[in-house]
Amino acid sequence: MRTNLVVANWKMHGHKKEVTQLLNALKNGINTSATKDSKMVICPPSLFLGQVQKELAETGIAIGTQNAHPQNEGAFTGEVGFAMLREFSCSYAIIGHSERREIFAETDKFIAEKFAAAQVQSVIPILCIGETQAQRESGLTESTVLGQLQAVISEVGIEAFANAVIAYEPIWAIGTGLTASPEQAQEVHAAIRSFLAKLDQNIAENISILYGGSVKANNAEALFYQSDIDGALVGGASLDAEEFLTIYAAA
Ligand code: PGA
Repeated sequence: MRTNLVVANWKMHGHKKEVTQLLNALKNGINTSATKDSKMVICPPSLFLGQVQKELAETGIAIGTQNAHPQNEGAFTGEVGFAMLREFSCSYAIIGHSERREIFAETDKFIAEKFAAAQVQSVIPILCIGETQAQRESGLTESTVLGQLQAVISEVGIEAFANAVIAYEPIWAIGTGLTASPEQAQEVHAAIRSFLAKLDQNIAENISILYGGSVKANNAEALFYQSDIDGALVGGASLDAEEFLTIYAAA
């Protein structure tokens, strides 16, 4: 059974008071818009995890991390590990976001290490893959996206995807207001699923593949209508409770 996931990626946004206000609005709104088959996940900056854990206790809203180091502890200044994140009820981890790949020079190999380390701590990795504008224009969308996926599969094995989520995020659509059309997104999602099906039919059928890149209240429904889109990874619109609840309701 695929779960519909709507994941908030707050990125480096928020301050204490705003976090409480946003979470209160989500808690109040989710009762009326929640459906049994969909799950909401909030990924705040790590610094707010204690606050978010307290404020989301017993709400059914899950918590995720935007990043972590593959080691549980050690001399890694500025980093946090998955064992620590577990103590803050993190059950999901965004892994390999394009901003981490591009700004922080994360390689496929390092991303695969994080993916594996998350699972050791029972944290579900949300593996992000996606092409640049130039790659799309050169007809390299599928080879790029499937190459990023294969790089992780080569390290962790296909079985590891029985307990993972994939997020297809075209880089040209992130934070730009440009969204892939539902058909463009569906085409890539279907390619990802059939690639996985060649390795393991069961995993391919059951894995949730999210779309990310300027998902808003006004385009979510059309995206979710596509047969291979099982939810969204939402950046900008996740900072607005009303927008985010509308996206969640559409899932
Ligand atoms: P966006 O970000 O919704 O602001 O485009 C999505 C993401 O980076 O995950």
